Amino acid sequence: MRIKQNQLIMAVSMAIILSLVVGCAGGAPTQEGAQEANRQSFNLESGTVILNNGIEMPIIGLGTFALTSEQAEESVYHALMYGYRLIDTANAYMNERAVGRGIKRSGVPREEIFVTSKLWPSDYDNVDKAIDDTLARLGLDYIDLLLLHQPYGNYMGAYQAMEKAISKGKVRSIGLSNTYQDKFDNIMRVATIPPAVLQVERNPYIQQTELQEHIKPYGTVMEDWFPLGGRSNSSNRQASLFNDEIILAIAQAHGKTAAQIILRWHLQSGGIAIPGSSNPAHILENITIFDFELTIEEMQRISTFDTDELIFDHRSPNEEANTNAYSRPMDFNSQE
Ligand SMILES: NC(=O)c1ccc[n+]([C@@H]2O[C@H](COP(=O)([O-])OP(=O)(O)OC[C@H]3O[C@@H](n4cnc5c(N)ncnc54)[C@H](OP(=O)(O)O)[C@@H]3O)[C@@H](O)[C@H]2O)c1
Repeated sequence: MRIKQNQLIMAVSMAIILSLVVGCAGGAPTQEGAQEANRQSFNLESGTVILNNGIEMPIIGLGTFALTSEQAEESVYHALMYGYRLIDTANAYMNERAVGRGIKRSGVPREEIFVTSKLWPSDYDNVDKAIDDTLARLGLDYIDLLLLHQPYGNYMGAYQAMEKAISKGKVRSIGLSNTYQDKFDNIMRVATIPPAVLQVERNPYIQQTELQEHIKPYGTVMEDWFPLGGRSNSSNRQASLFNDEIILAIAQAHGKTAAQIILRWHLQSGGIAIPGSSNPAHILENITIFDFELTIEEMQRISTFDTDELIFDHRSPNEEANTNAYSRPMDFNSQE
């Protein structure tokens, strides 16, 4: 991804601020300093954020969870045609080959696209091979952002192996997913590179404010899965969000849809949004959110939605059950 000059200046300023803060605090960055740095790096004009490693990342992207190979290829192709430059996939979605085909078919230059994938816990002892296999399936020679999908099994060792993959040029940025305060701190005890991104379940019903504050001192940016309430879950959160009177009133005031209001809330509250869709009309709708702004009062009204109830609770104390559930080996190469 090309870094524009003013954004480069911002990244350098951020690095200076962070280094000053680290210097003053004798090692650990203060929350205040990092919040300032973080605010500076989230840019709603360009639709990008400068990560804590100086790399530019789009703040709206296409999610591909639960898309079949055919749907994934079509959705990625349409998204890139409509101007998306961030695509989110994972080993476990079993559609990386199709994502790669969509990218290739679009004709958009590789360096303009920011591709995220995620490693599965069954591969945490074999990260080098897992990365090579991921690259082969995507048909790419580097991954822009690689996440640990779940913090189970040898996630600490896997994080250190991802750090090494950066120096080998196979991965540009690394981060975590579904990781909460305790395990984030475990990682920080061994990390030499702080996570650039933390991807968790987040939408108006689960706003993750405490976690967001917790990661700010490291310049780690939050990325929001289930941004529209999620697909294929029994809680029906999407329907209640889309039909909520407050959301609909705000949508009417701006001449926008409920989905667009919710996605704009993500960006204005400091979360990268990756709505999933197999419908080209929705894909276009979801990126048409840069021509209006939610007022402070509208943001405050949406902040009252928070319930702190996750659909998939990775904070569960049942470590053994989660480790077993999330570590089952999968044959990622058995995809079209
Ligand atoms: N790290 C993790 O553990 C994790 C977990 C879950 C998800 N994720 C990532 O986060 C992404 C987003 O999550 P998600 O796709 O499950 O849920 P989501 O984005 O909250 O919701 C997707 C659902 O919303 C519908 N939709 C999308 N745009 C719409 C619009 N403008 N109007 C009406 N309906 C719309 C989609 O249907 P149509 O197909 O008909 O548009 C789909 O059913 C995933 O795709 C994946 O990349 C990560």
